[in-house]
Amino acid sequence: MSTAFEHPTYNYKVVRQFAIMTVVWGIVGMTLGVILAAQLVWPELNLGLPWTSFGRLRPLHTNAVIFAFGGSALFATSYYVVQRTCQVRLISDKLAAFTFWGYQAVILCAVVTLPLGLTEVKEYAELEWPIDILLAVVWVTYAAVFLGTIKVRKTSHIYVANWFFAAFILTVAVLHIVNSAALPVTATYSISIYSGAIDAMVQWWYGHNAVGFFLTAGFLGMMYYFVPKQAERPVYSYRLSIVHFWALIMVYMWAGPHHLHYTALPNWAQSLGMVMSIILLAPSWGGMINGMMTLSGAWHKLRTDPTLRFLVVALSFYGMSTFEGPMMAVKTVNALSHYTDWTIGHVHAGALGWVAMITIGSMYHLIPRLFGYTEMYSVKLVAVHFWLATIGTVLYIAAMWVNGILQGLMWRAINEDGTLMYTFVETVEASGPGYIVRLIGGLFWVTGMLIMAVNVAMTVKGSAKRGAPLPQTA
Ligand code: HEM
Ligand code: HEM
Repeated sequence: MSTAFEHPTYNYKVVRQFAIMTVVWGIVGMTLGVILAAQLVWPELNLGLPWTSFGRLRPLHTNAVIFAFGGSALFATSYYVVQRTCQVRLISDKLAAFTFWGYQAVILCAVVTLPLGLTEVKEYAELEWPIDILLAVVWVTYAAVFLGTIKVRKTSHIYVANWFFAAFILTVAVLHIVNSAALPVTATYSISIYSGAIDAMVQWWYGHNAVGFFLTAGFLGMMYYFVPKQAERPVYSYRLSIVHFWALIMVYMWAGPHHLHYTALPNWAQSLGMVMSIILLAPSWGGMINGMMTLSGAWHKLRTDPTLRFLVVALSFYGMSTFEGPMMAVKTVNALSHYTDWTIGHVHAGALGWVAMITIGSMYHLIPRLFGYTEMYSVKLVAVHFWLATIGTVLYIAAMWVNGILQGLMWRAINEDGTLMYTFVETVEASGPGYIVRLIGGLFWVTGMLIMAVNVAMTVKGSAKRGAPLPQTA
């Protein structure tokens, strides 16, 4: 069986491993999301145990979906794209294998330590210092494999998708190492080397650029390869893609303070973050339009190709969340939206609508090709998955918009004598229906992911049965 799964030129083994783990971690991470959503409807579901409480499962969810699901997808696609567009094998199979097993080990450490409550208490950077060090080693190895492969390329130029992947890999290395700097106290406890407002600033410089480079630049790399491939059209404007790249990476770096409006951060820094966030609309939409217009002359394919639908709807949600983000960064809007479910809705418009949709579209293109086919076992099931994911996302974000605006308005409503019109508990009660709708949206998503798992399993099984060597031109 192993010979049937080997590619004569490229290292597809590591791509296959990461692609399969994308599906596995997608199911795990989203199931955790559904559990959290259910706990917000029925708090007793935390079972009264510390390990299953909302506060401990929440970081497990964010780590599982962003780093395990999203990260595995980024490893899989970047390793695939760099080999195909540079026309060379990864420079080292051993180092590539180390990144796979090392990265999965980091995820397993998170699965154990986060429910135990071992955390550095920094959002999206919770893991304790020994795990941080392992992650840094894995990540630097990843950079070496990816950039080393670009260096030995047989093509004259570097395809734009690789620019985005390279920016994502290098920036995440810098963000992770700087933000995680800490003084170890014991093997499971450390103290950040930053303090006060500086700690907050460094954390949100990291946090926002994690959005900009992990959840955006890397996935744009995916977009620039898989949208043209699936649509069978060249990128609409190669020039725009280069402008898009430089504008995006130069502006993202400055937008972090919009997470710290009305805090102890100096006012000028907050205003700078706001202005840079508004400017960010331009490169974001430039990229979105470039992706969309790639479909010129191929729109009819949307009728029959659910994989392409995933990719295009992902771009629509990208456009939507990068319009919403700059708006929420305006201080007066943020005064209403901050602390409310509106933020959670914005997060998932990006996370489900953009990140998960573009990932799944890319996987439906990639997985059959990794196993010697051009299509998944069942295209009908891909279509079913598409509708479950789209409806699930809409239910989720619409419910959070309603809840967020409701909460924001109820919190600031005052009586004539200046006292608050509503107690906090009343705002929680009013949010109940929205939480139920969000839960239903989440169930739609998990059902879709389980259908995907069956479809992938059948595709792999068919390939194993056939036993033929894989074609050179996947
Ligand atoms: C079945 C799908 C999903 C469900 C039901 C779900 C549910 C949830 C819930 C209930 C929360 C906590 C909200 C709160 O504290 O009020 C949350 C937080 C979060 N989720 Fe999800 N989620 C899902 C998928 C995803 C995916 C795919 C991603 C990323 C790729 C993601 C990223 C996040 C992030 C970043 C947060 C923290 C938001 C913040 O702190 O503002 N989620 N999710
Ligand atoms: C032009 C692009 C964007 C801008 C200017 C932007 C702006 C913002 C703003 C103002 C907030 C609320 C901060 C607060 O009140 O605490 C926020 C939160 C967030 N956004 Fe965006 N956003 C953008 C795109 C995206 C995309 C595409 C994603 C996901 C893929 C995303 C993920 C998040 C997350 C995870 C948070 C919650 C952070 C937290 O508090 O834990 N954003 N964003």
